[in-house]
Amino acid sequence: MAYGLLKGKKGIIFGALDENSIAWKTALKVKDEGGVFTLTNAPIAMRMGKINDLAKQCNAEIIPADATSEADLTNLFTKSREILGGKIDFVLHSIGMSPNVRKDRDYGDINYEWFLKTLDISGLSFHKVLQTAEKTDSMNEWGSILALTYIASQRTFPDYSDMAQAKSVLESIARSYGARFAKLKKVRVNTISQSPTKTTAGAGISGFDVFFDYAQMMSPLGNASGEDCAAYIALMFSDFSRMVTMQNLMHDGGFSTSGITQELIDRLSK
Ligand code: NAI
Repeated sequence: MAYGLLKGKKGIIFGALDENSIAWKTALKVKDEGGVFTLTNAPIAMRMGKINDLAKQCNAEIIPADATSEADLTNLFTKSREILGGKIDFVLHSIGMSPNVRKDRDYGDINYEWFLKTLDISGLSFHKVLQTAEKTDSMNEWGSILALTYIASQRTFPDYSDMAQAKSVLESIARSYGARFAKLKKVRVNTISQSPTKTTAGAGISGFDVFFDYAQMMSPLGNASGEDCAAYIALMFSDFSRMVTMQNLMHDGGFSTSGITQELIDRLSK
């Protein structure tokens, strides 16, 4: 059911790679709720071509941008304003990549050049998005900017490797830039800490299926799906969340505040 929550709002959605992507599901949800937006992804991800199907479904234009490139981001914000006919109300940063994870590099034998790449793509790029939005004066007052994160920023999870550090950086940027953007433009900046979700980025972590099943048992409501996440993002873009800023919002079915669950006790005592 749609509620028209985002009627009249304009935005930019980063990170839709395929139908499983959280950004893909978000685009469909935001469209249903009346929002209009441009879609963007790294030029290399465009080669898959799938994003064209989404663009058609959403009547959205695609503007390629490597989120680590300030020039690409400046072009993205400038063109998005032209295409959408005004300033921006919402931005979703749904970006993650670690060469060390992708190439299964052991945490005790990490490649530091790749580590810096992980930090740049998965953490620093959020600062670049925020700074570009400010410098190009692209945001409307009471706008909402979100990035997606994972609880491995705060607790250790084997095989999450340098992505854990990147997510800590990301969450910290949301607090620091949130304070600044609130004063400048009443723009709110938050991260959403999502349950394990079966996507390309998720499945890239080795042992992901075990993470997923464990989190399912440790979350009284079960894992939050990509669709649930998209609905929460729509709420966070809407006027119903105007005073929420500088937060790391747990969207995890109760995982983060569970010590142990009965389900897990039953399973382990078998
Ligand atoms: P996904 O693989 O569908 O999306 C990741 C996106 O990042 C892709 O579209 C990819 O092209 C894009 N990307 C990579 N490098 C880029 C660059 N240099 N510039 C611009 N875009 C770039 O996977 P998913 O799961 O939808 O990931 C979205 C976000 O959600 C990520 O931040 C991820 O860490 C986060 N997240 C995912 C969870 C999961 O279990 N899947 C759990 C919690 C958070």
